[in-house]
Amino acid sequence: MSIKLSSGKEIPIEMHKTRMVQKIALTPIEERFKAMQEAGYNTFLLKTKDVFLDMLTDSGVNAMSDNQFAALMKVDDAYAGSMTFYEFAQAVKDVLGYQYVMNVHQGRAAEHLLSKVFCKQAGAIPTNYHFTTTKAHIELSGSAVLEIYYDEALKTESTNMFKGNMDPQKLKNVIKKYCKDKIGFVRMEATTNLIGGQPFSMENLREIRRICNENGLLLVLDGSLICENAYLIRQREKGYGTKTVAEIVKEMCSLPDIFYMSGRKNTCVRGGCIATNNKELFEKIRPWLPVYEGFFTYGGMSMREIGAMAVGVREMVDPDVAGCSIEQIKYFVNRLSETGIPVVTPPGGLACHLDAKKFLPHIPQAQYPAGALTSALYISSGIRGMERGTISMDRDKDGKEVFADVELTRIALPRRVYSVSQIEYAIDRINWLHKHRNLVKGLKFVFEPPVLRFFDGRLEAIDNWGKALCDSFKRELGDH
Ligand code: F0G
Repeated sequence: MSIKLSSGKEIPIEMHKTRMVQKIALTPIEERFKAMQEAGYNTFLLKTKDVFLDMLTDSGVNAMSDNQFAALMKVDDAYAGSMTFYEFAQAVKDVLGYQYVMNVHQGRAAEHLLSKVFCKQAGAIPTNYHFTTTKAHIELSGSAVLEIYYDEALKTESTNMFKGNMDPQKLKNVIKKYCKDKIGFVRMEATTNLIGGQPFSMENLREIRRICNENGLLLVLDGSLICENAYLIRQREKGYGTKTVAEIVKEMCSLPDIFYMSGRKNTCVRGGCIATNNKELFEKIRPWLPVYEGFFTYGGMSMREIGAMAVGVREMVDPDVAGCSIEQIKYFVNRLSETGIPVVTPPGGLACHLDAKKFLPHIPQAQYPAGALTSALYISSGIRGMERGTISMDRDKDGKEVFADVELTRIALPRRVYSVSQIEYAIDRINWLHKHRNLVKGLKFVFEPPVLRFFDGRLEAIDNWGKALCDSFKRELGDH
C-alpha cells in the first residue's frame, strides 16, 4: 500500500519485515564498464556479482513468504499422485475458480502446449499485445500474431488508464478477414508486458468474451500478472473500488475458456499452470503434458515448488502482495516524470519503463536505443534493467530487422525485494544519465542467434561510448 505522510507526500510502504537478507555489492564504475563489455552490452549476460540492484525482471526473483518457505519443507515428494498437487489444485479452485488444472515448468511451457494444440497452419492469433515467448511459440506452430490494441497503447505518455484493452472493432474486422477456423484462439494478456505493464478493464474483457461467443472462438487469458491487473482495475475502473482484489481476480477468471500463467511472478514460485472449467479442452491438452513436461501431478515442476505455489496462489490476492510492486512503480514513475524523464505513463505493473526513443533521440532505431540506454544505465548505476525494444524482436524470415513499436528500458520491481531508498538511488542515477545522454551512442550486433536473440546476442558500443560515459562519471561522482 502507499501512505500519506503528514507533509502530504505519499510514499509506498512495505507491509512486511525483512528477516532474511542477501548481501549485494556496488562495484566501482571501471569494473562495471568492463563487465558490460564482457557481457556484449547485453544485460542478460552479466554475472550477478557485478550487479547492484537486479531489476532485470520480476520473474522467479520475488521474495517468498515465511509460509511459502514452510511449504517447501512439508511436501509429498511422490512421482505420481502427490497430495501436494491436490493441495495446489484446491487452491486454484478456491482462488481462481477452475476445476481442472495442470502444472507446467513455467509460462512458456503453457504457451508451447496451447500453441501445439490450438494454433492452425497459416492461421492467426489475435492478442491485445504479444509477449516474446508467446510470439515465438505461436509462430513456430504456423500461426501469425495479430496485435489488436487501441492506437493509444503505443503512446508512451498517456492518461488512458487501460492501454492494455483490445480494440473490439479491430477484432471484428480481423475475424471477418480470416476464416474463423483459422483463428486458434483470442489471447488477452493481463497487463501487457512489452508495452509497459498496462492493464485492460473488466468491461473490455467482457466485450471480448461477447465477441468470442458470437463467433464461436476460444478466449485464452495469460494471467501471469493477473493480480496487478486486478489491483489496477480496483483503483481505476468505475464500480470496482469497493471490491476486493480476490473478487476481481475471480471475476476475471470466470471469462476465458482457458487460463494460463507463469507462476514465477504473482505466486513468487518457479513454475506455471494451465487451468479451465472445460473438461473437453482440458483433455485435448492433457495427453501432451507427460510428453513435454512431466507426469500429470508434477508437470515438470519440483513438488516443493508446487507446495509453495499452493500457498502463493492464496497469498497473491492479498492487496499487500498484489499491490506492493504497483505502489513502488507508481512512486518511481511519478518522481521521474516530475523531473522531465521520459517514462511510460500511466504507471502500470511489473516495472518502471524508460522511453529510450525520447531519452536518446539521437540514436536511430537500427542502432538499438533501448539496448544502449539499458547498458548505459548499468554502467552508471550497477542497476540491471532489460531491453524491451528492437533487440527483443527477431528478424523476419527474410532476415530483415523488425522495428519494435516502442523502445523501452524496463526496470523491474520484483515483489518485496527492494526498498524505497534503493528506488531513490535509481531515480538519482537515471537523472544523472539523462543529463549526460549525449555521451551515449548506439550498438551493433557482433553475434546474433536466430530465435529470441535478446537472451544470448552480443553487441558492441559504437565508438566505444561506454568509456566516455565511464570517464565523465568518474570525474563527477568518483568510483560509485
Ligand atoms: N506471459 C507473460 C505475460 C510473461 O510476462 C512471461 C514472462 C511469460 C508469459 C512467460 O513465462 O518466463 O515463466 O516462461 N515474463 C518474464 C519477464 C520472462 O521477464 O517479463 P515464463
